[in-house]
Amino acid sequence: MKVLVIGSGAREHALVRALVADPEVDAVVAAPGNPGMDTTALCEALPGGVLDGAGVAQLALDQGADLVVIGPEAPLVAGVADAVRAAGTACFGPSAEAARLEGSKAFAKEVMAAAEVPTAIAYVCTTAEEVAAALDALGAPHVVKDDGLAAGKGVVVTSDRDEALAHGRACLAKEGGRVVVEEYLDGPEVSLFCLSDGRTVLPLAPAQDFKRVGDDDEGPNTGGMGAYSPLDWAPATLADEVVTRVAQPTVDEMARRGTPFVGVLYVGLALTRRGPKVIEFNARFGDPETQVVLARLRTPLAGLLLAAAEGRLEGVEPLRWSEQHAVTVVVAAHGYPATPRGGDRVEGLEEVEEVPTAYVLHAGTDRAADGSLLSAGGRVLSVVALGESLAQARERVYDAVGRVRLEGSHHRSDIALAAEREELHTG
Ligand code: AMP
Ligand code: GLY
Repeated sequence: MKVLVIGSGAREHALVRALVADPEVDAVVAAPGNPGMDTTALCEALPGGVLDGAGVAQLALDQGADLVVIGPEAPLVAGVADAVRAAGTACFGPSAEAARLEGSKAFAKEVMAAAEVPTAIAYVCTTAEEVAAALDALGAPHVVKDDGLAAGKGVVVTSDRDEALAHGRACLAKEGGRVVVEEYLDGPEVSLFCLSDGRTVLPLAPAQDFKRVGDDDEGPNTGGMGAYSPLDWAPATLADEVVTRVAQPTVDEMARRGTPFVGVLYVGLALTRRGPKVIEFNARFGDPETQVVLARLRTPLAGLLLAAAEGRLEGVEPLRWSEQHAVTVVVAAHGYPATPRGGDRVEGLEEVEEVPTAYVLHAGTDRAADGSLLSAGGRVLSVVALGESLAQARERVYDAVGRVRLEGSHHRSDIALAAEREELHTG
């Protein structure tokens, strides 16, 4: 089998790594890919960019790909999966219509209401007056979300009413701007990826992401600074419960509407005292959670994603998982998330590989003319390690991170720490 992966982040590098390890896979092509992937995959440029559906569909045909896997949300929302399927290639990723579950928070809320999925009470607002009224109706802490895609930066959670209102006004100032003001959900957060072929839902292992830039959840939201899996503190029934109460009803509702969801339904949850409630849906694998979930998946990935793309998930064998714990820590560029600096030398990656089980997944990296590696984005690398215990995995991953040399870089030092200390509880 030949697989084409669209994207260039550490999530896509993790996908490439897992696909290459599938014995059924002869070759993986990544477009545009990144310098970390090009040792195991053929990296192809996409002259029209990742949003160019016709360009992606043509590349899949030119390469003779049996399956296209689309990593990021923007091409999905732009209809790239539709273009690939229309050209006759199997595609793992939802149509533009189905990707609205991520592309519009108001749409996601409407589907959740129709499917009776537990989630935060929400008001969709189009004026500052409506935002103010919603803030007062729900009380603090305030949660104010840009309706559209904002790369993880559209959400403000604050007890400061003026800050909440200012964020609402900023979102409304955009063309067609809409704002979702919602109830604050209290409880640990969990990400659960649910594979869907449009009908059948198959959950992967739950993971936890760390969205704030600094230790102790200080500072602004980011795309995600680290993750770990499994979650020993969460109920063993969590994945099944989320499928029954959230993912299956949502997939059924999308099918009922004639816009079946094929791909990963990423369910972001808060485990509240009153049970799991949905914080957000995404229409793709999460980054950096994918790095730890795929590190533990023993079932070959390509066969699984092809089964989803071809409507055959029902017949898939139960998934197999490593018993090990996986932790990933993101090494971010100076100034991330506000003003990431590029062009710094990235060194020490060979030394990372000396740490047992540890490896590096590239995200914002670039190869200079002289062959040296430079930073070229906010999240530069994801370092991953495994261990027999969470403590061992953490020790290894931080040993590995300490070997990376990138001037001005920063990372969180408390990824999975509360779980290691057994400080997390549900509800
Ligand atoms: P989102 O982009 O919707 O995932 O939101 C980003 C982050 O904001 C989430 O991971 C949560 O940490 C936080 N957040 C979003 N919605 C809520 C909510 N209703 N209650 C509490 N925190 C939230
Ligand atoms: N880890 C959060 C996301 O992928 O949106």
